[in-house]
Amino acid sequence: MEILILHGPNLNLLGKREPSVYGTVTLEQINQILVADGKILNAQVTCFQSNHEGEILDRIHACPGKFDGIVINPGAYTHTSIAIRDGIAGVNLPAVEIHLSNIHKREKFRHRSLIAPVCIGQISGFGMESYRLGLQALVTYLKK
Ligand code: DQA
Repeated sequence: MEILILHGPNLNLLGKREPSVYGTVTLEQINQILVADGKILNAQVTCFQSNHEGEILDRIHACPGKFDGIVINPGAYTHTSIAIRDGIAGVNLPAVEIHLSNIHKREKFRHRSLIAPVCIGQISGFGMESYRLGLQALVTYLKK
């Protein structure tokens, strides 16, 4: 089983970025844990981060035939990107949307996700654990 973890804009700054909101864990540490979790779950995990919407889209488009599912933290594109939503719908692969922070507890503009309706589910508010839970949920879904 092949899983793609997609991190959107500003997530490369994790560790330094608003630690009171996002914690002090770095993206590299998150990726290492997800790869290790993948081994336990019998899933090969590949991680990719980009600050560019088009690059994220290119990765999504390249998924069919290579990946069985996607765990995505679209960052701020969650709230703005019809293109990423259409890309996920277009490749027809199961995707899980995750957020470190609880987007529903924050500013109003973060409450709406354009991506969630094309995902099998959304996990929000558990810090780095959101990624781990998302990976676990996706693998469980794919094994069924
Ligand atoms: C985020 C929440 C978004 O609203 C924000 O723009 C991010 C991070 C999260 O993981 O909590 O960049 O996706």
